[in-house]
Amino acid sequence: MIFYFSGTGNSKAIAEEIANYIGTEAVDIIAADINQIHLENEEYVGFTFPVYAWAAPEVMLQFAEKIKVSETAFTFAVCTFSNVAGMALQHFSEIIPLKSGYGIVMPDNYPITDHIIDTKESSMVKLEEARKRLDQVKEKIAKKEEEFDVKMGEDAKTRTYEMAPVFNREWRKTAAYHVSDECIGCGLCERKCPAKAIEIQDGKPVWIKEDCYLCMACLNYCPVEAIDYGKYSKGRFRYFFKGFSKENY
Ligand SMILES: Cc1cc2nc3c(=O)[nH]c(=O)nc-3n(C[C@H](O)[C@H](O)[C@H](O)COP(=O)(O)O)c2cc1C
Repeated sequence: MIFYFSGTGNSKAIAEEIANYIGTEAVDIIAADINQIHLENEEYVGFTFPVYAWAAPEVMLQFAEKIKVSETAFTFAVCTFSNVAGMALQHFSEIIPLKSGYGIVMPDNYPITDHIIDTKESSMVKLEEARKRLDQVKEKIAKKEEEFDVKMGEDAKTRTYEMAPVFNREWRKTAAYHVSDECIGCGLCERKCPAKAIEIQDGKPVWIKEDCYLCMACLNYCPVEAIDYGKYSKGRFRYFFKGFSKENY
């Protein structure tokens, strides 16, 4: 079984493809009923997730804390990220000891800071590389190779162990979301929000929780780009996974 969390589809696509390759199931942790999860006879137990502030999303860590994995299972994690992952996998392994872990560089879905990580063009290049990388990774997982291979970047320890807690405590605020008059009231943002933080009121999204996962699903899936966060996202490239081929974008 492979458990995944995904805001904009990268980690979901990776989970589904590996699951298909090794003959198991990909399960969305947001939809899963924890009481129905029985892993005693699972040969593989995997986790895929985006890296958020150099760590696994808090919701994924909390999920991992609640499940029981047998010692005989081949445990692995595959994180997706746009730049560097810090010690996300090592940190995750403190909860579920991993036998292997990989990083796959994917397009950035976080256009809300003052620096641009990806444009449409760089995203297409990343998808092409990710396609090849995924083929290698799934093969290694199928063969149960015990390996860790992820681009950690500089200051990995500080970023993961000191910055990620700040992100979870202080940065995941919904107050900075705003909606333009372009909004057509389709409700896709509400349906896509894994934190259930959005409610359509009078035909427009309203953030009804103070914090969310900051997964960027609402902003990236909006069909008319009416959702922004803070002052940097306006007009920047919106991304969600539509397949590895650039013809889809
Ligand atoms: C809140 C947030 C924090 C992020 N932090 C990082 C990071 O620390 N390092 C990085 O390389 N990418 C970072 N990213 C980019 C995502 O990890 C990347 O685009 C990922 O593949 C998205 O996966 P998803 O489509 O499954 O949600 C961040 C994205 C978000 C939304």
